[in-house]
Amino acid sequence: MSGRIPQNFIDDLISRTDIVGLIDGFVPLRKAGSNYQALCPFHDEKSPSFTVTQDKQFYHCFGCGANGTAISFLMEYNRMEFVEAVEELAARAGLEIPRQAGHASKDSRLSELYELLELVAQFYCRQLREHPQAQRAVEYLKHRGLSAELADRFELGYAAPGWDNLISALGKSDAAQQRLARAGMIIQRDKGGYYDRFRDRIMFPIRDQRGRVIGFGGRVLDDGEPKYLNSPETPIYHKGNELYGLYQARHANKEINRLYVVEGYMDVLALVQHDVTNVVATLGTAATSDQLERLFRSTAQIVFCFDGDTAGRKAAWRALQTSLPLLRDGRQVYYRFIPQGEDPDSFIRQHGKQQFEDDSHFLCLSDYLLQELTKDFNPIIMEHKGKLLHDISPYLKKLPTGNLKQLLVREVAKLADTEPDSLERQLQQSRDQASRPTTLKAQNKGERSLLAQTIRLLLRRPKLALHIADPKDMTELDLPGADFLAEVIKLIHQNTDISCAGIIENWRGSKYEQRLSELATASASPYEKDEEVFNTDEYLESEFAGAVNQLQELSRKRKITNFGKPENLSDEQKSLLRNLNPAARSVSKD
Ligand code: GTP
Ligand code: MN
Repeated sequence: MSGRIPQNFIDDLISRTDIVGLIDGFVPLRKAGSNYQALCPFHDEKSPSFTVTQDKQFYHCFGCGANGTAISFLMEYNRMEFVEAVEELAARAGLEIPRQAGHASKDSRLSELYELLELVAQFYCRQLREHPQAQRAVEYLKHRGLSAELADRFELGYAAPGWDNLISALGKSDAAQQRLARAGMIIQRDKGGYYDRFRDRIMFPIRDQRGRVIGFGGRVLDDGEPKYLNSPETPIYHKGNELYGLYQARHANKEINRLYVVEGYMDVLALVQHDVTNVVATLGTAATSDQLERLFRSTAQIVFCFDGDTAGRKAAWRALQTSLPLLRDGRQVYYRFIPQGEDPDSFIRQHGKQQFEDDSHFLCLSDYLLQELTKDFNPIIMEHKGKLLHDISPYLKKLPTGNLKQLLVREVAKLADTEPDSLERQLQQSRDQASRPTTLKAQNKGERSLLAQTIRLLLRRPKLALHIADPKDMTELDLPGADFLAEVIKLIHQNTDISCAGIIENWRGSKYEQRLSELATASASPYEKDEEVFNTDEYLESEFAGAVNQLQELSRKRKITNFGKPENLSDEQKSLLRNLNPAARSVSKD
């Protein structure tokens, strides 16, 4: 079941899947011109802006900006992980997923670790029931208000005192010891040999979303230090990616309307003990955007639970900054501040589930933002209004276009006594200013948009790339970003039936993914959507040829300007110059 899925299988899968049929099975589509439309399943709307384009095999919502391929749709709509979505599409297409042989050794080394940690988890669980000294651990859990069923459900365990309990149980051979060490469970001694990392601690196995044990947290039974010991980073455990309790939350709930994010293992357990099963914890760090993206794949609403003290407020502010760029329409972030001196664990034990979940105590992210930035705001003082506009604009700029941004802009404009339109313009302007070009920059910008235009045409009609006889020619362009263009052209040459979606899938997870998706949804002119003439082969071919020509011209100019002053030119350079068109020569003079 493990192993990397080869990219050409993904290409094949995308080309065999019909995105219109797939999406229509979940969200009934209506034909509209050459596209299909529906009310967007990813945000609330009254008139349809969700559009599926068959020849691109791509969907896009003009309202909330959601977009992607058949794989992305399953990931977003069915809240699947990438591999699950691929498995689903493969099953629908009746295809077997091949696993890449070249990676087999690496993968089998990883699956060894997963299998090993499963055994370790079982070992610690058994110890909690059987070890003669486990009674203290059992008492401790009881004293924290946790039932035996809960301990079972979260597979809590016990690492007994001693330096080699785990080694004796699961590390009999040298190879087994090396595996335990790679999994972070035992530590090498300076003088050779190993010792158990976790001793006399309650053990919390951490499962990833697919249910595999990837690491552990271990808590002392008294006030020893450190209170928690966690697995180190290993080939399968990366604490910035994982969330404690997400696997259990997804299993306990068919649909998750809301997820609480708390700070501690014990907070998760206490909430679940009180029947709040939609809860996860970050693993001793601030939530990363990776973790939040993952949560938004399981729910539309995240509620951060922080203590009301200074540290809690600070963490809340950090969470705000991480959340802002992710808040496209349909997603919500709230805070549930816990009164000073308490944490979610003590709170729910004292006040119960109903009070914990009472959303009149929730603060929405936008109110929190405004609260923080208007602390001693006085609307009679003009300077205060100016300061508010100044302070809030970096945050507004981080928000994706959508309803929330629009509403916030309106609210801020009202507070500062200005027009929403003018605030909007200001945000736009300061963004342009930040990238205000010097002459050289202007040139780069022109090059970049020309490259973008070329790639956009390829996404619209991949076969255009076949007009370029040799993709290698493109790598010789002396332009930033040309390598990437060459890669796209090469891919199409190798795979002449690839669709727009197929191209994007080749860059999933890389920095180009987002850019490609944007280009896939952009129209060059506002008329382009409607008019058939802009969709003909002739039109697209001439556009493409023109763009490639200009790129080559630009690259030649660039080589010339890099030669330096005219008097320093070599004969070869002079002849190159003579062959240029007049426009190019004028550039080389200034
Ligand atoms: P209790 O104190 O038993 O209620 O545990 P808690 O889960 O409420 O922990 P706390 O609120 O003190 O800390 C929140 C989270 O930070 C913990 O769950 C751990 O993930 C992490 N953490 C706390 N203390 C330590 C520590 O000493 N070392 C490490 N590595 N992580 C810690
Ligand atoms: Mn606690």
